[in-house]
Amino acid sequence: MRTMFVAGNWKMNKTIAETRELLSALKAGLNDLQGVERVVCPPFVSLAAAHELLAGTNIGLGAQNMHWEEKGAFTGEVSSGMLKELCGYVILGHSERRTYFGETDETVNKKLLAAQKAGLIPIVCVGETLAQYEAGQTAEVVSSQTRAGLQGVSAEFASQIVVAYEPVWAIGTGKASSAENAQGVHAVIRQVLTELFGAETAQAIRILYGGSVTATNAAEFFSQPDIDGALVGGASLKVDDFVGIVSQSQIAKGE
Ligand code: PGA
Repeated sequence: MRTMFVAGNWKMNKTIAETRELLSALKAGLNDLQGVERVVCPPFVSLAAAHELLAGTNIGLGAQNMHWEEKGAFTGEVSSGMLKELCGYVILGHSERRTYFGETDETVNKKLLAAQKAGLIPIVCVGETLAQYEAGQTAEVVSSQTRAGLQGVSAEFASQIVVAYEPVWAIGTGKASSAENAQGVHAVIRQVLTELFGAETAQAIRILYGGSVTATNAAEFFSQPDIDGALVGGASLKVDDFVGIVSQSQIAKGE
């Protein structure tokens, strides 16, 4: 049985002071919930403060991106070693990184291999655009993103990777995918993972749904057999909503 996983992607939101405020409230709200791995991903500059605030809690900390090189002349970038001092997780290949910052399957793969080396758990995002969705190319797109992004990863590390299916048309739009549609795509992704790493490893990998997840629609996603949690954007900035989503994941799997 896979442990449910809910991560909050704060994107470019919250100052250090605001991070402290939000995390204090989240700590109180999430404290009593069991059986679900929960992670917050604030901006880089807030990670040190968040690391201190979350010490001794069961809330994990993640970054939203990183570079694949360990160090050097890469102005404005952050390495896996720098993150490793503060966090256990890193989001890789988010569609906003692919769309606005030129990330490709190739750079996602380099970052993933760097995460493997550093022992950071990657949350790897895949998902089709609206045009690809409307052209019926979803399965093809997510399969090739998954294959290319995870190339060269060891089966041992693969079982720890978290994959997030995030249809681009559902991110920040308030138009979530239907749970049935998402389940179908998750099954495709798990089939690709089975081909890459074998059935046992593929069964251990958590596949999250992301895109306009709310405390209202979360339970429906979590009741699907291949949906193992959520990557939450907007709703992760609101205490009640995020706590609501994490508790739905608890309820859905009966833990
Ligand atoms: P959203 O974002 O929940 O605001 O749609 C999801 C994401 O980008 O991870």
